[in-house]
Amino acid sequence: MTERETRIGEAAGRAELPTAHPGAVPDVLAQARRRRTFAVISHPDAGKSTLTEALALHASAITEAGAVHGKSGRRGVTSDWMEMERDRGISVTSAALRFGYRDVVLNLLDTPGHADFSEDTYRVLEAVDCAVMLLDSAKGLEPQTLKLFDVCRSRRIPVITFVNKWDRPGREPLELLDEIEQRIRLRPTPVVWPVGVAGDFRGLIERDTGEFTAFTRTPGGTGRAIEEHLAADEAAARHGAIYETAVEELALLDEIGATVDLKSFLAGESSPVLFGAALPNFGVRRLLEALRELAPAPEPRQDAEGAPRPVQAPFSGLVFKVQANMNQAHRDRVAFVRVCSGRFERGMVLTHAATGRPFATKYAQAMFGQDRQTLDVAYPGDVVGLVNATALRPGDTLYESEPVRFPPIPSFAPEHFAVVRCKDSAKHKQFRKGIAQLDTEGVIQVLSSDLRGDQAPVLAAVGPLQFDVTVSRLEREYGVPAQLDHLGYTIARRTDADSVPALAGQSGVEVLTRRIDGALLALFADKWRLASVQRDHPGVRLETLLAGAD
Ligand code: G4P
Repeated sequence: MTERETRIGEAAGRAELPTAHPGAVPDVLAQARRRRTFAVISHPDAGKSTLTEALALHASAITEAGAVHGKSGRRGVTSDWMEMERDRGISVTSAALRFGYRDVVLNLLDTPGHADFSEDTYRVLEAVDCAVMLLDSAKGLEPQTLKLFDVCRSRRIPVITFVNKWDRPGREPLELLDEIEQRIRLRPTPVVWPVGVAGDFRGLIERDTGEFTAFTRTPGGTGRAIEEHLAADEAAARHGAIYETAVEELALLDEIGATVDLKSFLAGESSPVLFGAALPNFGVRRLLEALRELAPAPEPRQDAEGAPRPVQAPFSGLVFKVQANMNQAHRDRVAFVRVCSGRFERGMVLTHAATGRPFATKYAQAMFGQDRQTLDVAYPGDVVGLVNATALRPGDTLYESEPVRFPPIPSFAPEHFAVVRCKDSAKHKQFRKGIAQLDTEGVIQVLSSDLRGDQAPVLAAVGPLQFDVTVSRLEREYGVPAQLDHLGYTIARRTDADSVPALAGQSGVEVLTRRIDGALLALFADKWRLASVQRDHPGVRLETLLAGAD
């Protein structure tokens, strides 16, 4: 076996040893080991949509680049279901793409690309085993990338780095590596090394073998780039001093030990780095290969008690996203479930852990962008779309035969608050229905209090775009014109009933109930107000909520 084959074997076999599990379904372990479930994290405009298309193109999932996302007049499949998205050119919804590449099955979970709208992204990261951190070669680490990277680190998600847009002027590769190391304390370990600086890209040197791959653009840039493989001496003769510079840089990397290391990658300490350009499809196939070789296969997921659910145990799945009215023609509600263990078969009757009720799966679908196909079978790592899943909420567990409940998906600390009112008093019933629906989907958090009443709940958001989505969906899907009045709070803390008397009546402070789970949240105008309350009432419970920027 070659060293690389051994590595692939290790990556695939790491899931767990094939111990006999009572009730284990044959084939599940082998199928799970073929899965690579990942998301791309990046700052808007780094090229996530372009890379998604390029990956799917290389993996032959679609025939023409541009069939996945709907930006700039490209044929939209995934994300053009909402007019607002189209107008703004941003992706607000998530989709899951599944495609085969050689002997593996890749599940790419799409994350919203807008800097403001991050709560949904965090939920998607609960459902992946690996992330691709996409950097613009001219910009390096940007704010949204840093925020998302923090979530990956806290969840111990291994990160592969792809430096994009190498076809146009950018920064020095060593400088970019240095930035990664210094700013996020992640040890970069290049898998390939670019010959020629960004903007004058000649090709990639494979660090393992020294082989050189040159790229030629295909006309229009929409197809796979033409790859030409050269031995080191041929490449040196062709590219002269530029090639020598790359070789010198490689020697430096060897000297400092910046070599791909599976163990530290999986521990979240190092990151394999690739260079390329998604638009002309340079280095995209190499990224697929890196995912195949290095990304972890699904592993046992810990349940709420901390016990791992073996991959080959009977079916279990985590709802990580719920989306209503994705398809205007059907006005249905889809719950996206990540398979955690066992084999999913359409028609199975599962148990909904939160209620103990049976859940029929007759309408299981695979979502390829907005194209839907009936899905008959799925394995750990795959995503199943369950249609008309009215009872399901993000964070819920579904299982077959052996009960399990996964820990709830943490809800993030809202930083923006607004009262929402229905502008048309005749539509109050629809207004309440719409608000309740968007709350269960997790589009927005809904807070209320006796004082404010039912007519004017408070909406709480991690990013202000969530408000726009809420108002737009109330209007479009429920025919309800709604009005927002922004409130001057910026901080939320979890509190309890015993603390309410001390908080009541304080200026710049309000206690509200989160409808979805009944949690009591204390809202503060700013951190000074919070600090003074903490000082004056040290016995009051004011617990930090999980937050991106809290
Ligand atoms: P996003 O989803 O991360 O927000 O980014 P998106 O893929 O939409 O890419 C943002 C812009 O960067 C697009 O240009 C896209 O064509 C360009 N881009 C992406 N990858 C590369 C690359 O490897 N090289 C170069 N040169 N450009 C790249 P745009 O002009 O904003 O949009 P469009 O009209 O091209 O769609």
